[in-house]
Amino acid sequence: MAQKILVTGGTGYIGSHTAVELIEAGYEVVIIDNLSNSNIEVLDGIEAITGVRPVFFKGDCNNIEDLRRLFTENPGIEGIINFAASKAVGESVQKPLLYYRNNLATLINLLDLMPGFGVKGIVFSSSCTVYGEPDKNPIDETAPIKPATSPYGNTKQISEEIITDYIASGAPVKSIILRYFNPIGAHPSGKIGELPIGVPGNLVPYMTQAAAGIRPMLTVFGDDYNTPDGSCIRDYIDVVDLAKAHVIAMRRMLDRNDTDAIEIFNLGTGCGVSVLELIAAFKKATGVDIPYKIGPRRAGDIEKIWADPKKANEVLGWKAKVPIDRTMKNAWQWQCSLPK
Ligand code: UD1
Repeated sequence: MAQKILVTGGTGYIGSHTAVELIEAGYEVVIIDNLSNSNIEVLDGIEAITGVRPVFFKGDCNNIEDLRRLFTENPGIEGIINFAASKAVGESVQKPLLYYRNNLATLINLLDLMPGFGVKGIVFSSSCTVYGEPDKNPIDETAPIKPATSPYGNTKQISEEIITDYIASGAPVKSIILRYFNPIGAHPSGKIGELPIGVPGNLVPYMTQAAAGIRPMLTVFGDDYNTPDGSCIRDYIDVVDLAKAHVIAMRRMLDRNDTDAIEIFNLGTGCGVSVLELIAAFKKATGVDIPYKIGPRRAGDIEKIWADPKKANEVLGWKAKVPIDRTMKNAWQWQCSLPK
């Protein structure tokens, strides 16, 4: 019988791509989402790609009674992938309690209920933001955790500590913490992708909206950094590559009994790409110009960070594969499918 996996935040950007990969790998997927930053039609996209419509439960993970009902109505869930979280850095500075409540209460509720409902493991979405401004690049998992520069970043650090403390207390659960670098792109089918509500805060949705004429112009936040072209450097990872890593992590956690109860992996390509290089890559891949101007630096931005993904490559046997031009094409295809 297929193993049953709960994907919290499963109609969101990374959640929906992961649901597709899980279904294609033979898992049964149950999604919980409160649709605060996604919409129900995402299920149609998942079904169109996989031929399977996942079970959907509308609810709030920060409400333990919603979760209790979900686990009762869907017995036999073996693993959880927790994407249900707020993720806008700027908003987190304005509304810190919203971020601490959403992100931390959700995790605490899930961990609390896991043993009682026989759930063996949880994959947690963390972020390279826990490293702050690195002393050197590429950065591996042994690098020090730096003080967070936003409540959002702090929720990721605290969440990692909560999981660590819970497992150290002897709780009968396992966890794999995945530190994402910058997930971008969309499914190659064009049926699911990132659906930013309002003005996008992240680079690629802003780029594609500017290319589509929805925004007059992209602003490049600073060209006076200590990098070859002066713009910031990140490690942009295709969302489908990222989604596949979750399937591998889940399999490792549930099917093996020789692994540590808690493991941490960087998920990135190992390549640093600047904002200006990404704009050029988009033009090369799609033939479409992105109108842009250089603006001031954005407060809180890190100058340069990219992953050393060796541990994930060797231990998980996972490697980012999708070339950047394919990722750019997929992002553009997705943008073109959206209403203007
Ligand atoms: C941020 C967070 C990261 C989080 C992610 C999720 C930090 C330091 N990073 O990533 O932890 O997981 O958001 O949303 O907290 N840029 C422009 N113009 C734009 C938008 C962005 O030039 O209109 C530049 C930024 O300055 C940056 C790069 O593009 O250099 C990527 O920005 P963005 O997509 O917002 O991601 P991060 O800030 O790297």
